[in-house]
Amino acid sequence: MIKSPRGTRDLLPPDTALWNYVEATVRDVFRAYNFHEIRTPIFESTELFARGVGEETDVVQKEMFTWEDRGRAESDRGQSLTLRPENTAGVVRAYIEHKLWDRGLNKLFYIGPQFRRERPQKGRFRQFYQIGAEIIGPAAAGSQSPARDAEILELLATFLDQVGVVNWTLELNSVGDLADRAKFNEALRQALAPVVDKMCTDCQRRAVTNPLRVFDCKVPEDQPIIATLPTVTQFLSEESRAHYEEVKSILDAVQIPYTENPRLVRGLDYYQKTAFEFTHGSLGAQNAILGGGRYDGLSEALGGPPAPGIGFAIGEDRLVLSLTASAESVTRKPDVYIAPLGAGMNREAARVARELRRHDLVVELGDESFRKLKKSFEAADKIGARYILIVGENEVAANAFALKHLASGEQVTVPRAELAQRISRTK
Ligand code: HAM
Repeated sequence: MIKSPRGTRDLLPPDTALWNYVEATVRDVFRAYNFHEIRTPIFESTELFARGVGEETDVVQKEMFTWEDRGRAESDRGQSLTLRPENTAGVVRAYIEHKLWDRGLNKLFYIGPQFRRERPQKGRFRQFYQIGAEIIGPAAAGSQSPARDAEILELLATFLDQVGVVNWTLELNSVGDLADRAKFNEALRQALAPVVDKMCTDCQRRAVTNPLRVFDCKVPEDQPIIATLPTVTQFLSEESRAHYEEVKSILDAVQIPYTENPRLVRGLDYYQKTAFEFTHGSLGAQNAILGGGRYDGLSEALGGPPAPGIGFAIGEDRLVLSLTASAESVTRKPDVYIAPLGAGMNREAARVARELRRHDLVVELGDESFRKLKKSFEAADKIGARYILIVGENEVAANAFALKHLASGEQVTVPRAELAQRISRTK
């Protein structure tokens, strides 16, 4: 048997109803905050991620699905391509490519699959889905303002409450600007020097190339050492500190609770100043439902103009896992099952179904080959229809149909013109 590749999965009904519910809800929230959708390719040049996400990150070091594309002609040279492990680099690439700074402040969102070659476990897949958003634009358009950070965080709190994630925690930190981070990295390098030979080989490499990434280490034996390292907070400049304070004061004003976590550095290199995660207890080890932060230098790193930005990505797989709602509770059952009774009745039933569906009713259509009505009743029961409607020769001649309410067993004859109203009334 051919199975889906390791770390991927099929999403089937009824579960897909939950996914649709989540996506419909988030689209409404994005509309209320004036975000607009962007769709970028699911693969990009490998260089985009190496430069954007950072050479020394786990994502780029270990987790990318990369291949050499041959090209098909002289004009279509081969190049290294990668399935996107995240969408922020792609959005910033599109910002630069399409000169989106002409539009001032861009408030963009996306929903789609991302790919990382991770070890699969609960809440961790190789193809997973993100719902993300980015605010990006020239500083003159207000993209640098801490008000944008707070707006993003308040949007997330609103969405999680609305979609039905209870007991989330917002963990907040500032990782400083480039200069702050340089000082922090230097302090880490010094702190690591006497102990690094006791750490894993990844950390030994990180200590030289990018000490901050030591915080990504998952090796249990290394954790006591990591716990003694300095935190970024003490290296923040006056400006970074003021930015962070303003974000927190707006959150206080709009009553969004948060927990400060000075050890939160995030796994991608582009973050500056604000960094955050929303976590949820039910998820076990992979407890981050979403993560994000500010990436003020990313556009320049990709060859673009200065374009401060902030954004987030929700792990949709994890969000769905943490929902209290069930697929059943968000699935709309058929309003009526139409049972064509006798030869030639499929076309009459199709006409009635067409009329009813125009009135926003969910209609399931049977088949005249079901010779016995009992079979139609069983089918109607199985899909949980509220009503069964019989379409036979007599009904068509009278232009009135037998309509039976399945739960109560009550049966009435309803003129064709009143059918839709009768069925909707009891929705
Ligand atoms: P990230 O923290 O790498 O950030 O991913 C965001 C979220 O995606 C995680 O919190 C998690 O819920 C989900 N996720 C990540 N990897 C997996 C996986 N293997 N399986 C299931 N879910 C996963 C980013 O991707 C940034 N682009 C977010 C961002 C946008 N920052 C600024 N703008």
